[in-house]
Amino acid sequence: MKYLLFLILPILVWASSDFISPQEYAAQLYKNPRGIGCQHCHGENGNGKIIAKYKHKNIEKEFIGAKINNISYSEFHRALNRRKKAMPRYFLTDKEVQALYLHLHKNDKAKKKNAK
Ligand code: HEC
Repeated sequence: MKYLLFLILPILVWASSDFISPQEYAAQLYKNPRGIGCQHCHGENGNGKIIAKYKHKNIEKEFIGAKINNISYSEFHRALNRRKKAMPRYFLTDKEVQALYLHLHKNDKAKKKNAK
């Protein structure tokens, strides 16, 4: 009986640590998709970000990761399934794209409330 517990306990611990909420899953996916994390180029909350500054013909230029928390789901989905210059192709499933979209819009309701 004692030995049985030793066998089951690690499995229970492992299983419970595997239960994360859809929000936690999406936040993790945003930072760690199958490739470089989105936040590096689009910022923590998808507000967009300056990736690099450089000079071209002595004129200061900025290389910017687009703001991605203000577009419709269909635009978001399309953008992720098309080749883009300077952005890696991820080959995400529809579920993953949905999760990422929800992650970027998780605070929208709160924002609207505050705006009133
Ligand atoms: C290496 C930098 C980089 C990474 C990493 C990256 N992106 Fe991008 N992304 C860009 C750039 C640059 C553009 C603008 C490309 C263009 O104008 O054609 C872009 C465009 C987009 C667009 C389209 C925006 C629009 O208004 O059309 C979406 C959506 C997007 N990225 C989502 C993501 C998501 C989600 C991830 C993570 C899974 C991600 N990107 C990771 C650089 C990156």
